Amino acid sequence: MTKVITYGTFDLFHEGHYNLLKRAKALGDYLIVGVTTESYDRARGKLNVVDSLMTRIENVRKSGFADEIVIEETVGQKISDVKKYEIDIFAIGSDWVGHFDHMSEYCKVVYLERTKGVSSTMLRNQSFKIQRIGIIGSGRIAGRFLMESKSVSGVSAQGVYNPHLDGGKRFAEKYEIDFYTTREELYENTDVVYVASPHETHYEYVKDALLHQKHVLCEKPFVFEKKQAEELFQIARENQLVLFEGIKTAYCPGFNKLIDIACSGLIGNIRYIDACFTKLEAENSRELTDQKYGGSFLELGSYCLLPIIKLFGKEYEKIEFESIYNQQGLDIFTKANLKCGKGLATVTCGLGVKSEGRLLIGGTEGYIVVEAPWWKTTYFEVHFEDASKVEKYSERFLGEGLRYEIGDWLNRINGNPKNEFKLTRAESIAMAEIMEKFLEGEQRKGLFE
Ligand code: CTP
Repeated sequence: MTKVITYGTFDLFHEGHYNLLKRAKALGDYLIVGVTTESYDRARGKLNVVDSLMTRIENVRKSGFADEIVIEETVGQKISDVKKYEIDIFAIGSDWVGHFDHMSEYCKVVYLERTKGVSSTMLRNQSFKIQRIGIIGSGRIAGRFLMESKSVSGVSAQGVYNPHLDGGKRFAEKYEIDFYTTREELYENTDVVYVASPHETHYEYVKDALLHQKHVLCEKPFVFEKKQAEELFQIARENQLVLFEGIKTAYCPGFNKLIDIACSGLIGNIRYIDACFTKLEAENSRELTDQKYGGSFLELGSYCLLPIIKLFGKEYEKIEFESIYNQQGLDIFTKANLKCGKGLATVTCGLGVKSEGRLLIGGTEGYIVVEAPWWKTTYFEVHFEDASKVEKYSERFLGEGLRYEIGDWLNRINGNPKNEFKLTRAESIAMAEIMEKFLEGEQRKGLFE
């Protein structure tokens, strides 16, 4: 019996897939089809798959050509599948010519002619129009965002608005996108809005964009008042618009795996979370001179609060801040201690004091440790009382990681709600509330008087 294997995502199952499976089956007597999991696709940068794994499997099954369907979960699995299932022929579409030649060591490799004029990408673009992104703000993060958006099919960065015309113009020229001198112009020429302006302008810009019926992705920290966050989410909900806070960590595969493992019971009940993020900035940087909204906690606090809110929930009994201030009264280092129903947590942020950036999650049976840059999670370890027992996990993190939040935002705009849990409205509101509490603190209060 000749055994054939082939692999694919098989999203929005189309004629090309049908033909490929038919020809693969005709190469032998028994056809095994590997269908990629969602997490595998995300890890390899395929961020906009529409159909669920079950739907894709079901469609492959319905083609009638597959004698067996397996799941493709990891890079390198193909070779072990070939060995495990005693495969004679590995078949794949001609778009992969040369890519799998190394497999000929294990079985025959056949590249089958691809059906012309159809692909999942094409169908996705037909069913979901390309969302033209208007960017508000033209700082460093906007540039990174723009480059990352190129890895997400279904969006295109169209133009930028910045009331500081010179900066906006330079940005537009550098990235070869439109430059808008007014927000009206931006709204007229784009479909969705990314807000990457200075923190204090987020509320006004997000509200304005929502009121112009635009879906919005807003950089963190979203806003500094609970009621502003609630209001913005309310406007979004009433207008059926998607509003996301862009904390990239929340959407990246490694961090999501970490949260899953932490919640799995492997380390028992979680009782302690210690999250530290420091990033030294120049004394004259915006972060250390912006009297109102500069400082370590406002700048970096969102990252550290994220795992705490994810694992302990948004309710806490007590929160206390301790800071070290610079001449201008901005915190160059802040420690926040939280007492939550389930345990204790510490946030440590520094723009003027360096410390070991680390995320530690302590449980009743073990602990998880993620070294810096844990906010771009690629690797973590689980330790136990028995020090010789260590479990290691790794996950990919592509580029600057912003592509994951862009992909999730886009999928949500296209009507796929399954990613919303990664950073919920309630979690964003809870973070805004903590920022507000921090700003109400004694020392900061003095600054406003
Ligand atoms: N395939 C094909 N003809 C097409 C499209 C796909 O023969 N017109 C083949 C691919 O070469 C691959 C298999 O079908 O062997 C599964 O491909 P998959 O990546 O799932 O489909 P695509 O349509 O290529 O998806 P995308 O546009 O997302 O890359």
